[in-house]
Amino acid sequence: MLAAGLLVTGLGACANSDTGGDAGTGGDDKLVLGFSQVGAESGWRTANTTSVKEAAAEAGIELKFDDAQQKQENQIKAIRNFIQQKVDVIAFSPVVESGWDTVLKEAKDAGIPVILTDRAVDSADKSLYKTFLGSDFVKEGRLAGEWLVEETKSATGPVNIVELQGTTGSAPANDRKKGFGEAIAANPNLKIIASQSGDFTRAGGKAVMEQFLKANPKIDVLFAHNDDMGLGALEAITAAGKVPGKDIKIITVDAVKDGMQALADGKFNFIAECSPLLGPQLMDLAKKVHAGEEVPPRIETEETTFTQQTAKEALPTRKY
Ligand code: AHR
Repeated sequence: MLAAGLLVTGLGACANSDTGGDAGTGGDDKLVLGFSQVGAESGWRTANTTSVKEAAAEAGIELKFDDAQQKQENQIKAIRNFIQQKVDVIAFSPVVESGWDTVLKEAKDAGIPVILTDRAVDSADKSLYKTFLGSDFVKEGRLAGEWLVEETKSATGPVNIVELQGTTGSAPANDRKKGFGEAIAANPNLKIIASQSGDFTRAGGKAVMEQFLKANPKIDVLFAHNDDMGLGALEAITAAGKVPGKDIKIITVDAVKDGMQALADGKFNFIAECSPLLGPQLMDLAKKVHAGEEVPPRIETEETTFTQQTAKEALPTRKY
């Protein structure tokens, strides 16, 4: 547990921190969890933050929350602050895969267990963290690609695909690209003619799609690594006088409400789900690692896929 003074001093350096409740004292005997979030770049991220905050309150865990505004340096700073504050457990969703070994070693040396949530790191030393809770992003990309292969099986000529990648160097961008690329190799007609990062944001998706449309007269398919970029691209496609979902088929990942609505409305064609509701499992894991219990090194989130029809059916009860 921490001392009040330490908390206030430490958080001053964080990008955007909030501790909620009786933060700063560690209060009673509550487990204290330091959580470094990527940012607020997408609907998925907002739903994930809500899930983490609600689950912490529900589990009686004191949450020290930091928003890194999509910058690795802010996450490293936040983790160092958590170490200085002697939190019980650190969890974080790494904005990019590389460059974490030093700070993770510092947490290990301080005896603070670390849980990776949502995104992985590429550290060779697996002892630097206790577990990784999150999706199989390669699988999500593969499911998206397999749908397209089936959808275009009768195509006799080239099918031109443009790809909106997520944040450069992030696990979901790397893995979704890989899974999609492997799956579409099954049909030689399928060609990625342009691929660029839109940083997982609507604004990024719109701006990059505008460039794609200017540079490429024939685009048949858009694969966007998340709903938000797909939604931004929708605006660019419509502004260019094309009909999204028909002239250009749109495949995305996430299945947040706005994406599901676009799918149900026939503007998107397929979504591979990525669930942001990781909060309850994260709190369970935090309690276990704090108690010194063994936990599995990898916990994969259960997910599905949606077509226009299944999106219509799922929308009324969709939680996020
Ligand atoms: O890491 C999960 C990804 O990050 C989601 O697919 C995306 O929307 C978010 O920004």
